[in-house]
Amino acid sequence: MCGIVGYIGKRKAYPILIKGLHRLEYRGYDSAGVALITPAGQLNIYKAKGKVSELEAYAADKDTDGCIGIAHTRWATHGEPNAVNAHPHYSESERLAIIHNGIIENYAVLKAGLSQQGYTFRSDTDTEVLVQLIEYTQVDRQVDLKTAVQLALQQVIGAYAIAVLDKENPGTLIAARKGSPLVVGIGNDEYFLASDATPIVEYTDKVIYIEDEEVVALRLGQEVDITTIGNVQKTPEIKRLELSLSQLEKGGYPHFMLKEIFEQPRTLTDSMRGRVNVRQDNIALSGFIDNKERFLNAKRIIITACGTSWHAGLIAMYAIEEFAQIPVEVEYSSEFRYRKPVIHKDDVVIAISQSGETADTLAAIQLAKQKGAFIFSICNVVGASIPRVSDSGCYTHVGPEIGVASTKAFTAQVVALTMLALCIGREKGTMSDEQYLRIVRELGQIPDKIERVLGQNKRIADFAKTFTYAQNFIYLGRGYNFPVAMEGALKLKEISYIHAEGYPAAEMKHGPIALISQEMPVVVIAPRCGTYEKVVSNIQEIKARKGRVIAIVTDGDELVSRIADYAIEIPATEECLTPLLTVIPLQLLAYHIAVVKGCDVDQPRNLAKSVTVE
Ligand code: G6P
Repeated sequence: MCGIVGYIGKRKAYPILIKGLHRLEYRGYDSAGVALITPAGQLNIYKAKGKVSELEAYAADKDTDGCIGIAHTRWATHGEPNAVNAHPHYSESERLAIIHNGIIENYAVLKAGLSQQGYTFRSDTDTEVLVQLIEYTQVDRQVDLKTAVQLALQQVIGAYAIAVLDKENPGTLIAARKGSPLVVGIGNDEYFLASDATPIVEYTDKVIYIEDEEVVALRLGQEVDITTIGNVQKTPEIKRLELSLSQLEKGGYPHFMLKEIFEQPRTLTDSMRGRVNVRQDNIALSGFIDNKERFLNAKRIIITACGTSWHAGLIAMYAIEEFAQIPVEVEYSSEFRYRKPVIHKDDVVIAISQSGETADTLAAIQLAKQKGAFIFSICNVVGASIPRVSDSGCYTHVGPEIGVASTKAFTAQVVALTMLALCIGREKGTMSDEQYLRIVRELGQIPDKIERVLGQNKRIADFAKTFTYAQNFIYLGRGYNFPVAMEGALKLKEISYIHAEGYPAAEMKHGPIALISQEMPVVVIAPRCGTYEKVVSNIQEIKARKGRVIAIVTDGDELVSRIADYAIEIPATEECLTPLLTVIPLQLLAYHIAVVKGCDVDQPRNLAKSVTVE
């Protein structure tokens, strides 16, 4: 939620900040703004409602000179998305400017106190309260900017990644974090600051991940200075970035989402590299090997996640219970963290998160950790908050996912969780060698099989055009493919704004069947395995009520292909791996419907890729 970027050095800050904002736009895009200190010592702020391109248009004829600046792309929490509420915000005297990602929960109390001191507020945001508090502290306590930030943050309840400029100190940029991510990039006589490394990668590969409750002072010509908000000095730990610029570009595709869908054969190969050894028929997952006993002694596994990651968790429930015979509960992090859950010391909690920053998932594992559970996380972004607070885990290694609707991260999460389920099952002896070997070998075939499904892209694009009229969709699946039905529906909702529901196929007769008509397409996931015959009966029931059926079937399935209006074939595979293939046509279907409807595929309205607020 919200992207922040900052620069201090010898180059012009504005182009660097704007480019950085474009990279961070996936985090929110309802308004954007920039603050710059000019060589003459003026602090200019420019803001515009809408995307970063609106800000660029607005600032085109303005003075954007200056070698120090901060910029922000917003996903609104407090105050409607307009130019006034956009960041940066000035302090009362307009000496300071701030950008903020997060929520100041006690802003009302702080605001009342500041109002009594004569401070006035231009916006409805919680952020403006913080910059006023910093200025008040600076003046009242006669302290420098860093100390004022430290003292102000000691009074704040909530989450933040902030950056502050002071026109009286044009050689200093102060930033701090708690709960929201913040990375510093170290260049040659210059520093970069951002919510993630994507705005930094083309300038330097040396980064420092700022920790919770740390304040960083970036001063021209000086080393990075990190202290806690309580002023305890910290030693900066410089890490090397493993991110390339080409990963952040569309590579000839019209949208990031399509690029990411098509990357899946490669990303899954990357996810399995060094882990799935088909020649030796073995899976080696270091996060599991190093903590084997915790998994083998677990009476229960709790999976916690949000959105698409939660769907991956549901698929894992089927796999872990089948192979490892450990009871699994799959929880929405936002519910789990607040419902006083019973957590035992011998529970294993698995957190799934592409970004590794989702606030609810982070809070859920912090709660579970306090109660002594073992935390294993499956994340994509290396060094993010969730993997850092976890006891162990497994990175998915699919590279940056930029399209807001998750695609390649989902399939990699399913692969990681399947590998984990197989490791536990093998070690516990709860699955036969024969079954284990069959699935390990089949995992190695999955990238090629996905490639074959992608070969039907053109056909899917063609028939997607006939469904843009629909107001509602139903997606049905059973067993391992029930979560895929929900994921397919979520993809459609997210990017095409068509209402869609994912249901277990057999539940159709308990309600959704009443909705079926010619106007409502029904997507049925019907690979030839498990409860195939029963799903075929469901398709017959839909056709008997004149519903239009798009079926996902196994290669050569003439029966369903005959009854369905459209059939998309996937290669045969192990039942537990079918989600990796069945989800591909659903991703493509949602994508093409959204494109025909003219929707903003990569940045759908109201959404953000990384939800760092509750
Ligand atoms: C947001 C994104 C979804 C994502 C969810 C969980 O809602 O738009 O695509 O699935 O957050 O994010 P995470 O990074 O924790 O997987």
